[in-house]
Amino acid sequence: MSTPRARLAILASGGGSNLQSILDHLRNLGTASPAEVAVVISDRFAAGALDRARAAGILAVHLPTSESHTLAALLEAQDVTHIALAGYLRLIPAEVITAFAGRIVNVHPSLLPAFGGPGMYGRHVHEAVLRAGIRVSGPTVHFVDTRYDEGAIIAQRPVPVQADDTPATLAARVLAAEHQLYPRIVAALCAGRITLAADGTVRGAEEFTSEQAIPGAPPVP
Ligand code: GRF
Repeated sequence: MSTPRARLAILASGGGSNLQSILDHLRNLGTASPAEVAVVISDRFAAGALDRARAAGILAVHLPTSESHTLAALLEAQDVTHIALAGYLRLIPAEVITAFAGRIVNVHPSLLPAFGGPGMYGRHVHEAVLRAGIRVSGPTVHFVDTRYDEGAIIAQRPVPVQADDTPATLAARVLAAEHQLYPRIVAALCAGRITLAADGTVRGAEEFTSEQAIPGAPPVP
């Protein structure tokens, strides 16, 4: 008997390019896709992510509150098994974190633990990276816990910082790496290949942490 597909909820506050990359990747996997996107949830009514969900024929829900019972009830009603945060700016209620332990992930546009935490989102991250003068940045995919950007790290990709970078040019380069890394990790998580052990250790992410290009993905520009 084949394993049932995971039912994925994607939470996004912004334009939703990471959401789109997940939708595209799962569609490209076709019948081999380990997941279907059951619902896209945004705290912002005008989020581009909601438009992208509607365009793909996926349930799009504006949830202006992060009250735990509201979010938890929606996830339960949609039989959600896994959650991917994709530019979602609110903290996830502890009740939801507990219910989805090891099945909720996020992508952050810096090499955590550097340049993470409260207030470190969007262009603020890349401005801080440029101010610090570091030479390498890149995305981090991590499990989510009750604090911003502190869950166990699953994988990171180095992206060079160039001398003439602005926050916008650096953000674009890091975002391109996010689009390669994140959908593949979400798929591996939904397939049960990546797990979070009780001691906080991440298992099964080796293929994403090697020096080699991600299987099936073009090299980071
Ligand atoms: C990405 O840079 C992601 O790392 C961060 O928020 C941004 C979302 O971009 N968490 P998008 O809405 O997916 O285009």
